[in-house]
Amino acid sequence: MTVYKIAVLEGDGIGPEITQEAIKILKFVGSRNQIEFELNYAPFGAAAYFSHGHPFPVETKKICDEADAILKGPIGLNHEDSKTIPIDLQPERGALLPLRKRYNTFANIRPVFLPHGLAHFSPLKPEIIGNGIDLIMIRELVGGLYFGKKETGINEDGKRFVSETLEYNEDQIKRIAKVAFDTARKRKKVLHNIHKSNVLKSSVLWNEIVEEVGKDYPDIEVIPILVDAAATYLCLNPSQFDVMVMENMFGDILSDQGGGILGSLGLMPSACLGPDKAYYEPSHGSAPDIAGKGIANPYSMIGSVAMMLEMSFNMDGESNKVWQAMQSVFSKGFSTPDLSKPESKLELISTEKFGDLVLSELEQT
Ligand code: IPM
Ligand code: MN
Repeated sequence: MTVYKIAVLEGDGIGPEITQEAIKILKFVGSRNQIEFELNYAPFGAAAYFSHGHPFPVETKKICDEADAILKGPIGLNHEDSKTIPIDLQPERGALLPLRKRYNTFANIRPVFLPHGLAHFSPLKPEIIGNGIDLIMIRELVGGLYFGKKETGINEDGKRFVSETLEYNEDQIKRIAKVAFDTARKRKKVLHNIHKSNVLKSSVLWNEIVEEVGKDYPDIEVIPILVDAAATYLCLNPSQFDVMVMENMFGDILSDQGGGILGSLGLMPSACLGPDKAYYEPSHGSAPDIAGKGIANPYSMIGSVAMMLEMSFNMDGESNKVWQAMQSVFSKGFSTPDLSKPESKLELISTEKFGDLVLSELEQT
C-alpha cells in the first residue's frame, strides 16, 4: 500500500466545511487505488492565531515540511475582525505569504473553466460565452509587490508615506515563463503574455525574458497584451485566451476577474507549485458571512483535490473523473444556495449533500 502524507489546513470561515467534502473525495480515490492518504490536520490562519498565538504555528510548519502535498482551505476574517489581530500576524501576511515563501511555490495555476452546460452560471451573454469558458491563468506567486522591500514612515515634509517595491530577477521570470510555455504546449499552443511595459520597467524585463524563453518553444505563439486590455477582453471575448501568464499582483486581480466571468469565485480551485512541494487551495476567501450555514459550494476545494491528484500524484485519470463528477452534479440541476440566482431553476442542496452527490457520481466511474 502506497502512503502519501497530506497536510490538511482547513483555514477559516467556510474552510472547514468545504474541506470536509474534499476529503471525502480524496479518501474514496485513495481507497480504490490502494493508496492511503494519511491526513494530518494542522491549524492555520486566523483560527490558529486565536488558538496557538500564531497563524502559521511551528507544529503546522513541521506537518507541512513532512507532507507529500498540502491541501489548504481559505483563510482570513472580515475587514473589522481582522483588525483584532496585529497587522503582521493577520492570516494573509502572517500565514499565507510565509507558506508560499517557505515552499517557494512560484507557479500558481488557476483554471477558469465553465463547460457549455454550466454557462448559466456566468453573467456573460450566451453569444459571448459560445462553447463555454476554458482558459488557464498562470500567476507568479512569490515575487513582485507581494514580497518586495517595504517601508513606511514620515518623510521630510512630515507626511506619512509608504513605499513597496516590485522586484523580479531574470531567474524568477524564466522559471514561471517555462511553466507557462509547457502548459501552452499541452493545450492550444497560444500564450498570452500579460504586461504593462508602457509604464513599468518590471514589465520590460518580464517581456524580454518571456521572448528569450520563447526561443526554446518555436511551436508556441506568444501574444503580448497589456494587463488593462486583458481585463477588458476577458469580459468581451474570453475565448481568445487559452493560457495567460503574469506577475503576482496582475494575477491576483485578473484571476478574481476570471472567477467573475464564471459567475463565482467559488468555481476557482488552484495549484501552487514549487520545486519540491506543492499546495492546493481555492482562489477565493473564507466568506465569513456564509460560514457555518452549510450553503457554500465545495467545488473549488474538490477541484483543488483534483489538481492535487494530477499534479502531485500523477493520477490524471482519477483527476478527470473528479472534474466530471462535479459537472454531472451540476448538469443534473443541483447547486448550493451560494451559487444560485433568484431566477434559476436549480434544486438547492447543502454543502454536504453536494459532496455526497459528487461522491456517488464518482463511485459510478
Ligand atoms: C489569492 C488571495 C491572496 C492573494 C490573499 C488572501 C493574500 O487573494 O490567493 O488570490 O492576494 O494572493
Ligand atoms: Mn486573490
